[in-house]
Amino acid sequence: MKILVINGPNLNNLGSRDTSLYGKKTLIQINDDLLNLSEKMNVDLSFFQSNHEGDLIDFIQQNTPLANGILINAGAITHYGLSLKDAIIDSKLPVVETHLSNIHSREDYRRVSVLESVSVGQVAGFGWKSYVYALYLLVDYLNRDN
Ligand code: DQA
Repeated sequence: MKILVINGPNLNNLGSRDTSLYGKKTLIQINDDLLNLSEKMNVDLSFFQSNHEGDLIDFIQQNTPLANGILINAGAITHYGLSLKDAIIDSKLPVVETHLSNIHSREDYRRVSVLESVSVGQVAGFGWKSYVYALYLLVDYLNRDN
């Protein structure tokens, strides 16, 4: 089973962004946490981060044929990215959306996610653990018939 782990704009700067919102771990450290879990769950992860919406779309289009699901933190693109949403719809892959912060308790513009209606579910507000639980839940969802 292969999962695409996708991060959007500014998430390459985790660790030096506002740590009260996003925590102290870098994206490399979070990806290591996901790798540890993936070994236990016997899944392959393919990591991608970009600050550009089109690059995220290219990655999804190119990797969809080999993938079983998508774990995504689209950063601010979450709140407006209709072309990213279309790429997710076109992929027909199950998606779990994740956020370090609780977007529903922040500014009004962050309370809207254009991705949530095309996602299996969302894990937000638990810092780096949001990613870990999101991966666990996505794999569990993919294994639901087993
Ligand atoms: C974020 C929340 C977004 O609103 C913000 O633009 C980010 C990070 C989060 O993980 O909490 O870049 O996706």
